[in-house]
Amino acid sequence: MNDGVATPLENPLRAGLRLWRTPEPCTVVIFGASGDLTSRKLVPALYNLARERRLPGGFSVVGFARRAWDDATFRQVLLEGVNANSRARPVEEALWASFAEGIFYHRASFDDPAGYARLAARLAAIDATRDTGGNRVFYLATPPEAYPEIIAQLGAHGLNRSPEGGWTRIIIEKPFGRDLESARDLNRQVLAVFDEGQVYRIDHYLGKETVQNLLVFRFANGIFEPIWNRRYVDHVQITVAESLGVEDRGGYYDRAGALRDMIQNHLTQLLTLTAMEPPVAYDADAVRDEKVKVLRAIQPIASEATVRGQYGPGSVSGRPVRGYRDERGVAPDSQTETYVALKLFVENWRWAGVPFYLRSGKALPRRVSEIAVQFRRVPTLLFASTPVNDIEPNVLAIRIQPDEGITLKFSSKVPGQAQIRPVTMDFRYGTSFGVASPEAYERLLLDCMLGDSTLFTRRDEVEASWALLTPILESWAAGPAQAFPNYEAGTWGPAAADAFIARDGRAWRRL
Ligand code: BG6
Repeated sequence: MNDGVATPLENPLRAGLRLWRTPEPCTVVIFGASGDLTSRKLVPALYNLARERRLPGGFSVVGFARRAWDDATFRQVLLEGVNANSRARPVEEALWASFAEGIFYHRASFDDPAGYARLAARLAAIDATRDTGGNRVFYLATPPEAYPEIIAQLGAHGLNRSPEGGWTRIIIEKPFGRDLESARDLNRQVLAVFDEGQVYRIDHYLGKETVQNLLVFRFANGIFEPIWNRRYVDHVQITVAESLGVEDRGGYYDRAGALRDMIQNHLTQLLTLTAMEPPVAYDADAVRDEKVKVLRAIQPIASEATVRGQYGPGSVSGRPVRGYRDERGVAPDSQTETYVALKLFVENWRWAGVPFYLRSGKALPRRVSEIAVQFRRVPTLLFASTPVNDIEPNVLAIRIQPDEGITLKFSSKVPGQAQIRPVTMDFRYGTSFGVASPEAYERLLLDCMLGDSTLFTRRDEVEASWALLTPILESWAAGPAQAFPNYEAGTWGPAAADAFIARDGRAWRRL
């Protein structure tokens, strides 16, 4: 099989809860192998898959990068990365030794044709010695500027197709473009060389257990779906708050900003999974069809329906934090936003008129991500001692991280008193299951090796999301920026964000 197309999975729930399968033997070639992502996320994820016996025999890794390393140096760097970042520590020596036998370093620069010719020969040799059957995953973990060159070189050297009987797939890291036009260009470049069925655009939020559980929660339970609509829902708030600033990624971040870095991908994924209709099957096309429909139903977002912020000096949990403009790699007069809040409407039969508020920011007081569905208030006063406006509405909060779980808030009588107070029903993964969840990259790497692209972004999906957000970027670029910095590190964002939601008679949840 050459095209890497997933076999459709029969039934949504069986598939969503499916047992792990073991992929066919294959080689993962990582471009940008000397970078941070490889040693912080990718190889620790692969090591954990090995630890859980989920990798096929003969599984191999080839790191492609410019540095003057050899196999031994590369293995040592990765071992240190796994020791520092793996969810299971310390590293089991015997296991590492056998895993590391399949790790190789390929020194070449991305624009050197000879490097790809040597790569082809090397992969053929690995197929012969380790029985990897011509099956390959190319992983682009480089800065995005290098993608077009690597893709074109892979095509030019015939590495987009596997030898007889094997498959070839390519995983492309975010950011996938920086606006609609560049995303379209990149799609054209990729699809000139690979078929869509071979392309896996990664968004690591889709690999998080809590995010996958959104579909199970919605579609494996009978009691929520009937109220999951405009008749019962007042509004939805999606928050991804981070307590860290930009750390050592100022150079990248200052060209991106929160809208590109978080909203276009991670928050959009949370939004589409929350708002989508039940798919007809749990397979890559059926699920992604429904997500794309949500994006197409969203009305253009006016710039007045957005708030942007940038943090100044402050402190987070007692730790002093320098202002964004003082971070390394950031322009001293930077206009880049580190906080975004926006409101949008999904104008379809299910959601017409229900606002979805999204917010994400860096250097906020806590790291917390959640989706909160707030239901309409009760219609009329019944309990004389408590005015109806004092009865808090029901809220279903799906906590993505940390303290993963789901909470339902409802009103209850205070014993012995004529008072009503909100209480919660709580589900926590930790207490209910007591096992550590796999890391997002474990699931996604395995899915790609299995040829299942359900949890990856399709071409039309990535373009639809840029189509929605590019006008905001354009209007921000054209209009004068707000007076940045406009929030102190360690606070919940600019005052304008509170005023923005207050104008609708609502408030951000306190997290
Ligand atoms: C990345 C962004 O995609 O996601 C980072 O580039 C952000 O800026 C990170 O910090 C958040 O991921 P997580 O899994 O820590 O919530």
